[in-house]
Amino acid sequence: MYNKFFGILLLILIGAFSLTAQKVKPVYLDETRPIEERVKHALSLMTLEEKVALCHAQSKFSSKGVARLGIPEVWMSDGPHGVREEILWDSWSEAKWTNDSCTAFPALTCLAASWNPEMSAIYGKAVGEEARYRNKTVLLGPGVNIYRTPLNGRNFEYMGEDPFLASQMVVPYIQEVQKNGVAACIKHYALNNQEVWRGHIDVQASDRALREIYLPAFKAAVTEGKVWSVMGAYNQFRGEHCCHNNLLLNKILKDEWKFDGTVVTDWGGAHNTMQAAMNGLDIEMGTGTDGMTRSISNAYDNYYLALPFLDELKKGTVPESVVNDKASRVLRMIFRTTMDSRRPWGSFATDEHAQVARKVAEEGIVLLKNAGNILPLDASKLKNIAVIGENATRSMTVGGGSSSLKAHNEISPLKSLTAKFGSKITYAMGYASGPPAWGREIPSKFNADTLRAEAVRKARIADVVVFVGGLNKNHFQDCEGGDRLSYNLPFGQDQLLAEILKVNKNVVVVLVSGNAVAMPWADRVPAIVQAWYLGSEAGPAIANVLSGEVNPSGKLPFTFPVKLTDNGAHSFDQLSYPGDSILQVYKEDILVGYRWHDTKNIAPLFAFGHGLSYTSFEVSKPQIDKKLYTKGGIVELTFSVQNTGKVAGAEVAQVYVTQKNAPVMRPAKELKGFKKVFLKAGEKQTINIPVKVQDFAYWDEKSSDWKVDAGEFVLNLATSSGDVKFQVPVRVK
Ligand code: BGC
Repeated sequence: MYNKFFGILLLILIGAFSLTAQKVKPVYLDETRPIEERVKHALSLMTLEEKVALCHAQSKFSSKGVARLGIPEVWMSDGPHGVREEILWDSWSEAKWTNDSCTAFPALTCLAASWNPEMSAIYGKAVGEEARYRNKTVLLGPGVNIYRTPLNGRNFEYMGEDPFLASQMVVPYIQEVQKNGVAACIKHYALNNQEVWRGHIDVQASDRALREIYLPAFKAAVTEGKVWSVMGAYNQFRGEHCCHNNLLLNKILKDEWKFDGTVVTDWGGAHNTMQAAMNGLDIEMGTGTDGMTRSISNAYDNYYLALPFLDELKKGTVPESVVNDKASRVLRMIFRTTMDSRRPWGSFATDEHAQVARKVAEEGIVLLKNAGNILPLDASKLKNIAVIGENATRSMTVGGGSSSLKAHNEISPLKSLTAKFGSKITYAMGYASGPPAWGREIPSKFNADTLRAEAVRKARIADVVVFVGGLNKNHFQDCEGGDRLSYNLPFGQDQLLAEILKVNKNVVVVLVSGNAVAMPWADRVPAIVQAWYLGSEAGPAIANVLSGEVNPSGKLPFTFPVKLTDNGAHSFDQLSYPGDSILQVYKEDILVGYRWHDTKNIAPLFAFGHGLSYTSFEVSKPQIDKKLYTKGGIVELTFSVQNTGKVAGAEVAQVYVTQKNAPVMRPAKELKGFKKVFLKAGEKQTINIPVKVQDFAYWDEKSSDWKVDAGEFVLNLATSSGDVKFQVPVRVK
């Protein structure tokens, strides 16, 4: 009896105990507690080996969590234009899943060309939802390396040549991605402005160039966007690889900007254990340290931040505080993402996302030239429209390197033009390139003369020719791992265009590219449309702009020089571009893009900020409320913009600042404010653009700090860097 009584009592006690035990969560799992407290607690439960395991890859795209504590692995994915297809654990091959075909969004150059931060927000939200749906911890993007040369094979993945524009555009993308509980990863930090010798070239740039041109968009991503991860660049800066560069990572990113997230290498970007340990790197990815080109089963243990790092920690050459800091950063990122139980579920390849892709594409397309208003195409007056060019049908989501996408649906320009203009459309390929291939160029086997003859025949009898050409995502075009070899169009397109122009003057050139190109035919062609890589909805967006259903409103995020040597980087010897294979010196210094053209009076083919519309606008003289400002002040420019034409459209008002009589060299003008204004036909709106006096600053190399001089400045209200409408003088005291 007694025994039975005690038995029951014991059972009740055990039950009650286990119920309370279930209720008390360990601190690191308790989401009501501050993340810092949880990170500290989790760290206190971990062994040295477990901490080190957080700091390097365990597969091509993942790194370990702490399974014993229920802390999940980190899964990363490219980025930045959509969520890449799954890749095999141990090799670069596709995993061949059937459920990983994504929405391909327009390339970031197109996003930047919208000059509309709202487009960045809807883009970030949609791509973030796709990454979340695929359960990614990190989306490897966006990229904000400054456009220094039109030859850079990866410019299409970035946001143009101006640090202010890139900063404004990158922040909403990051914020919206991260609302999905997915970390954005700003890349490639820093000075990865070419693909030639990217793995080792040692970039020498001045402090001013660094601070004024190459870092601001990264800084905005960190301090305003609050980005949760940063990818180091492949190249070196001042003799140290960027993935473990003390100045860039420890001093600037972590100390100055107070970055509290993780620094990830670019794949294979680490080269040395002590530097990786001490110079600010947190997670090492992609390094084939086994010395073989193929992975071996334990290759990941040989990473610089794997067993060799553990050895140094055990020997005491690296203090444990170093691994504690790295592991804390990784834990913080995991708590912010996959361990946030409130994160939404995401969605994938939906119609809504396709609409976002189309909207961004339509806002980013730039009308460069439209003589005699040949555009929009008037279907009622045209009987025969010859579409010519390989890019009218070619997939532009595949290729280009790591940003290549397996798109759920990609609609070609030819398909959409045919849907709009029906049997009036005839098509000829005109020229041919080979298929995209990693790291090599495969020429086409088509006969160029035959293709050209057919195109000329069709052009001769057409009312109008729509030439859809440009670059593509092949090696040596707009593609990772190599730069373009020539500023001219490839695959015989210049010759083809010259021959078409001999038989038909009504030629509309639609350029699909992420880079400026030489246009020896620009004077003879009435219309030129810069159409970028537009993703899934490329066809509808292009067709809508050509037909006038959408009024183009994009503006160039970089300058189109007439010839390559008009560009700053190419105005010097080989050491400036591409370097001598070891060293490279940025000789144009802070005069990148329009800063070079404007300061040196070199007229561009198309200016930074240029873009036409099917309507016309009138900008009124801006008013300011006073003439004298303090260094902490804000100049408010108030003016009106009126749509003086017959259709709705949008204009981008741009404010460039000039310093008069500066004690140091300053560019002729620099973008410091802009606003995109949407107006119905005839509508007029009053606009206000605030410009911070602090943004008049330059980096003072003597004091190693930003400096605004007292004195005279001019605010230029413009519709492109080449078209200043009004100048407003102000003084700073
Ligand atoms: C690229 C990165 C990319 C990584 C992973 C590298 O080759 O430079 O941008 O995120 O591969 O695919």
